[in-house]
Amino acid sequence: MIYFDNAATGGQKPDGVISAVLSAIKLCANPGRSGHKLSIACAEKVFQTRSFLSDLFDGYGAQNVVFTKNCTEALNLAFSGAFKQGDHVVTTAMEHNSVLRPLQQYKDAGVIDYAVCPLTNGNVNPDEFLSLITPKTKMAVITTASNVTGAIPPIAEIAKRLPENVLLVCDGAQGGGHIPIEMQKNRIDALTLAGHKGMMGIQGSGALLFSDRLAPQPVLFGGTGTTSFSLAMPDFYPEALEAGTISFPAVVSLYEGAKYIFYHAKKHAEKVYSLTEFLINGIKKLTGYQVYSKPNPCGIVAFQKETIQSELVAEELSTRFGIAVRGGLHCAPLMHQALQTQDGGLVRASLSAFNTQKEAEELLFALSSL
Ligand code: ALA
Repeated sequence: MIYFDNAATGGQKPDGVISAVLSAIKLCANPGRSGHKLSIACAEKVFQTRSFLSDLFDGYGAQNVVFTKNCTEALNLAFSGAFKQGDHVVTTAMEHNSVLRPLQQYKDAGVIDYAVCPLTNGNVNPDEFLSLITPKTKMAVITTASNVTGAIPPIAEIAKRLPENVLLVCDGAQGGGHIPIEMQKNRIDALTLAGHKGMMGIQGSGALLFSDRLAPQPVLFGGTGTTSFSLAMPDFYPEALEAGTISFPAVVSLYEGAKYIFYHAKKHAEKVYSLTEFLINGIKKLTGYQVYSKPNPCGIVAFQKETIQSELVAEELSTRFGIAVRGGLHCAPLMHQALQTQDGGLVRASLSAFNTQKEAEELLFALSSL
């Protein structure tokens, strides 16, 4: 199968990730619980991973890195405890439901109100975004890359002009591992990661990196292996936010994935960018197709065939040509509204650096035959 669904989950993992996960599955202890040598060794690896992720994303130290099972959980954590009644949030039409649904929950509960920055030419305009900030705005929430089109919002420019008191939360699900993200440099207060996409880890690996300004509160309560006599959760990070045993295989996958990215990011981004460029130019030459993406390092190419429902295109590609893409709506309803694709959805081919030019050519051939 030709796998072009890497924005949903990374299809192929580097060998280092696979072997680290296999050894963790063969034998691992519970990090941070028992005092024996293996448990301590696992705890050290967990600490190393926090530390490495913090360094990779110019974060705020190992203690401000919390492991989650996915990016959605990390976003829910980033919002937890952040709001008081009457607060205001500014976000964008590019956001995934992992941002929009939690915000809507807070809104329905009468805690916050939020404004959505519309799109200008398929992206967020910093002036328009900043014009939505009010004296009540507590937080700005922006994705690092659209999961629908691969467009990359101008976070650095917005961050520079954002009022000092407004917290900046960035959804790194599609940008993480593909584009450089520097938290301190761009005064980002929270970065949420999906380990299983561009970060090259496995499903079940996610993380929240945060600044001391954010102070996220627990959403889960339980054992942490520390302050065990107290019936309250520890009041220090990361333990305060990690109730229950963390997934050690997921953490090591994230460590190896992050290391791999550290060494290969630039080369990967160039390759992925040029593959998307090749595909976009190719699809534009075919009759009856409309393309919604510009070349991007996140690997996303969204398109639509005028006469065929996007799910059917995806099904045909899978059954007749052995090509995996995603069709339909991509859990980003406001983005589809903005692109006016809420009815037919879009076909999304999402590439990784493990894909080849030949595979892209095969997709073009398949599309020309539909
Ligand atoms: N959020 C993932 C996607 O865009 C699952 O496909």
